Amino acid sequence: MKKIIFKNQEQEVEILYQKEISKISESFPEHGKMFFVCDERVLEKNPQMNKLLNENVYLVKSPEKEKDLQSTIRILKFLKDNGCNRNDHLIAIGGGATTDLGGFASSIYMRGINLIIIPTSLLGQVDASVGGKTGVNFESYKNLVGSFFNPKKIIVCTNFLESLDEQEYLNGLAEILKHAIITSDNDVDTLLKNIEKITSRDNDFLEEQTKRSIEIKTKIVTEDFLEAEQRKFLNFGHTFAHGIESINQNNPILHGHAVIIGMKMALEFSYQEKFLDEESFTKSKNLLNSFKYNLSDIELDADKILSAMELDKKNDGNGINLVLLKKIGVPFLSKSNEPNKILKFLINFIDNFE
Ligand SMILES: NC(=O)c1ccc[n+]([C@@H]2O[C@H](COP(=O)([O-])OP(=O)(O)OC[C@H]3O[C@@H](n4cnc5c(N)ncnc54)[C@H](O)[C@@H]3O)[C@@H](O)[C@H]2O)c1
Repeated sequence: MKKIIFKNQEQEVEILYQKEISKISESFPEHGKMFFVCDERVLEKNPQMNKLLNENVYLVKSPEKEKDLQSTIRILKFLKDNGCNRNDHLIAIGGGATTDLGGFASSIYMRGINLIIIPTSLLGQVDASVGGKTGVNFESYKNLVGSFFNPKKIIVCTNFLESLDEQEYLNGLAEILKHAIITSDNDVDTLLKNIEKITSRDNDFLEEQTKRSIEIKTKIVTEDFLEAEQRKFLNFGHTFAHGIESINQNNPILHGHAVIIGMKMALEFSYQEKFLDEESFTKSKNLLNSFKYNLSDIELDADKILSAMELDKKNDGNGINLVLLKKIGVPFLSKSNEPNKILKFLINFIDNFE
């Protein structure tokens, strides 16, 4: 049989930075109609956004709850009923849940219309908007249904971060900390020297850091769009974090908070296994301990975390995949076939966890 090979189309994603919310419309497309999928809370907290919107607005009231196929169908209907065509634009404004939902709808309506993402949470800005993953939750599974679909543009406005709750802000900050630790000493030092600016949400510093973090994620995902080797480094701390998240399902916790504990575990495990040097270990731990994450309501149980890690969808049945660290900026993939060793480590870590 003759093989036909279609080459992947290269697609450009424009990332724009705009400090003022009211000026975002300067980056809107000149041709085609615009349809907005917008987080209602963001709109309430930032009334200056009203100037950006037109009459075609689909409001998302409870983003994570509405990130499902029923809402996708409602958005498709909203697009169809209002005459959206192939050359028109869907503009998704909100945190990661809203942009994932809007992004997914735009990827399947007429086999894909132009998507513009305006991420308004820190997690959305440095993580969810970059990398081309869209999707919705299905039954009790997170992000089970989705697509790889890049936006034409991402417009980042750090001004939005002012109205974000403290713990939601820290939730997104976890990604910036992770990006720095897996990238370089320089990135970690810059953050350590500017803890005060980070906690006070200094707009200029945040713009610099979101830019840097996006640059790091973009570099990794463009080199590896369909998640093979390098992209997995972005999972630093995540195997542990997924275990923690899954045992806290009845009292859901923020992803970034689980990632902070997961990164602390990955650092400690790397150090105990003698992969990680002492200086990198201490410096990374200091960085993670510099912020007021509220971790008090998180259940940590070694047996349950291990069982959840063994079931993690990213494992292939032959052991537990971990991303560990040799030094700051040098992550590596490790497969563990010794669950008892991990269990012992977890018991000890949790006993000493403050
Ligand atoms: N596509 C990807 O690659 C990717 C990566 C990471 C996470 N995600 C997804 O992103 C979601 C998490 O993102 P999130 O933390 O932004 O969640 P979210 O969209 O649920 O937003 C969190 C909360 O913050 C509010 N909010 C957002 N921006 C605000 C602002 N400027 N001011 C005040 N309130 C604001 C929202 O209304 C919501 O209550 C999850 O669904 C996750 O699966 C996707």
